[in-house]
Amino acid sequence: KRLAAVIPAAGIGSRMQAERPKQYLQLHGRSILEHSAAAVRQLQPDLPLVIALAADDPYFAATALAADPNVQPVLGGRERADSVLAALQALDASQVDWVLVHDAARPLLQGTDLQRLLTQCQQAGCGGILASPVRDTMKRGGPRIEHTVERSRLWHALTPQLFPLLPLRQALQDALSQGATITDEASAMEWAGQPVLLVEGRSDNIKITQPEDLALAAFYLEKQG
Ligand code: CTP
Ligand code: MG
Repeated sequence: KRLAAVIPAAGIGSRMQAERPKQYLQLHGRSILEHSAAAVRQLQPDLPLVIALAADDPYFAATALAADPNVQPVLGGRERADSVLAALQALDASQVDWVLVHDAARPLLQGTDLQRLLTQCQQAGCGGILASPVRDTMKRGGPRIEHTVERSRLWHALTPQLFPLLPLRQALQDALSQGATITDEASAMEWAGQPVLLVEGRSDNIKITQPEDLALAAFYLEKQG
């Protein structure tokens, strides 16, 4: 099956409160976006990438990805789902069957997790996502607890998320046009009634979100070697 990857990198990183969007902060000598791109290419160094960028992005041109012949930058959108859809529309369905969608802000993805996602989706014959089991006891309510939520079947949705290109593109298009709340690719496929596999992945595949996540990511990177 011919594979490509989409990287939404058009966000502004408001929760990070940095002087630039978080995907362009440096980690061990290169940008977080470059780490995330390399991470999703671990099993296939020439994997075609479509990267969604903000309209006025002055940082991408300075990355090594800008000169990569297998990288196609496209204009992102208002929400993450709009950016992903724009990137999917740049892919040629006669060339690509399956697509990995991986956050620009997830530099710590490991090859073993990527391989497990590909293998299990292939075996099941459907799309799937990396996910990690929730660890804490979960409560619904506020300020008073209404009840404790059954934790054993709750997961954190991570990326990459792997789907057949055309069904994903259609599901995203339809869900967005009907005003559904779409926060990841799986939610669009769920909305469309398509099966999605949960594939257990490492909990250190964090999305850089808040300032303290940078030091944590640096620590994990060092540990990975
Ligand atoms: N993203 C995107 N287009 C948007 C919004 C987000 O491509 N309109 C991307 C981000 O660049 C990031 C990924 O989606 O790689 C996950 O989103 P998130 O962690 O929420 O990043 P930001 O939206 O940039 O951060 P914040 O929500 O704190 O502003
Ligand atoms: Mg966001």
